[in-house]
Amino acid sequence: MDKYAQRRQWLVQQLDQDSVVIVVGNQAKTRSKNINYHFRPDNDLYYLTGFTEPNAVALIRPQHNAEFILFVRENNAAAETSFGARAGLEGAKRNFNADQAYSVNEIHQQIPQLLEQRCKVYILDEQEFYADKVSTWLHQQRRSTGFDIPKVYRHLLPLQPLLHNARVTKSEDEIALVRHAVQASIHGHKAMMKQCKPMMNELQLQAIFDREIANFGCRDVAYPSIVASGNNGCCLHYEDNNSTLNHGDLVLIDAGAEYQHYCSDITRTWPINGKFSDAQQQIYQLVLAAIDAAIAKVKPGLVWNDIYQTCIEVMAQGLIELGIITGSFEEVMRNECYRQFTVHKTGHWLGMDVHDVGRYHDDDNQWRKLEENMVFTIEPGLYFPSDCLDVAEKWRGIAIRIEDDILVTASGHENLSAAIPRTVIDIETYMQSS
Ligand code: GLY
Ligand code: MN
Ligand code: MN
Repeated sequence: MDKYAQRRQWLVQQLDQDSVVIVVGNQAKTRSKNINYHFRPDNDLYYLTGFTEPNAVALIRPQHNAEFILFVRENNAAAETSFGARAGLEGAKRNFNADQAYSVNEIHQQIPQLLEQRCKVYILDEQEFYADKVSTWLHQQRRSTGFDIPKVYRHLLPLQPLLHNARVTKSEDEIALVRHAVQASIHGHKAMMKQCKPMMNELQLQAIFDREIANFGCRDVAYPSIVASGNNGCCLHYEDNNSTLNHGDLVLIDAGAEYQHYCSDITRTWPINGKFSDAQQQIYQLVLAAIDAAIAKVKPGLVWNDIYQTCIEVMAQGLIELGIITGSFEEVMRNECYRQFTVHKTGHWLGMDVHDVGRYHDDDNQWRKLEENMVFTIEPGLYFPSDCLDVAEKWRGIAIRIEDDILVTASGHENLSAAIPRTVIDIETYMQSS
């Protein structure tokens, strides 16, 4: 049984026989006129089926003799000559183990029949492609005028709590894919660090990363790369990547490869000329101390929010010592004045989605505890915009984030991205070596 069939088997074991699951895939998106963006399948559909074409919908009926049904695009010789092969109905059965396959053009006629007498309908349609049709699918049978047909009163249920929670803990196979994505990114970041020179353009660093990860079979990045020099680093999701790298500035690079639908998400910040200034070094050491203190705590049982708390405590204490914020540690933790400079939270689950699915709280609304084989990022940062008059001039324009990808192991953790230089001395030595 392939891994997708195993996941479907797990899913149907969690559900009543009275259920049907509908998982709606992604549709192609227009880039301009008749040109589409490169297609990326929906993660839930891919997780359960391995199917990678646009416009697919999966139907899963627990304990039915036709348990797994795929709606797909039909074969079409002209379209396939233009845009590539389609599995078609036969391919959906032969290559993806569907018990039945239908043209997606027939979905509205077929789904009400295929629900049969089942009442619990779980639907995943994150983009709401079929939002205006779901009510008809559910209630069509009940509106039948045949008085001798038993009425079925169906209701909708969310699948996310079950499926997305399962996705938080990774299998060995998934961990191997994340590791590969991280390895590609390690080479990408190191190549950028090594080749970085003043007067280059941010775009050229981005191109170095893209080329390196392609050598690892990564077709794409997990999110638009952030190559942010100088004050651009203060924009958390800066994507323009079109400024000249100035001597004396830092460059903050948040870039992660994606491999076979699994993401990496890594940030390093280094001096464009290969040597940190005193002010840059002081802030860098603070962020590094924060991430290292948080990583050191990671093991099964750690409460999720302790990671944020640890990062914040280290950075708040450091900001007081540098005279950037004032007050006792207790006062500062109470009034949270550090937030002007820490700006964002310090991590998220990592997997098929870069900000991966799954809850951070348990059923009692308490922060969740870490378990073996969870994967997540830790990413503290400090940001001092060039127009911030609340800090001394020497700090202005400094933006530093360090982000690593962490696997929880049985006894502790593994920093998957540790191989990219991250201490001041290691970065400077690496950049200055030929
Ligand atoms: N690159 C997006 C993030 O770090 O969350
Ligand atoms: Mn990131
Ligand atoms: Mn991140």
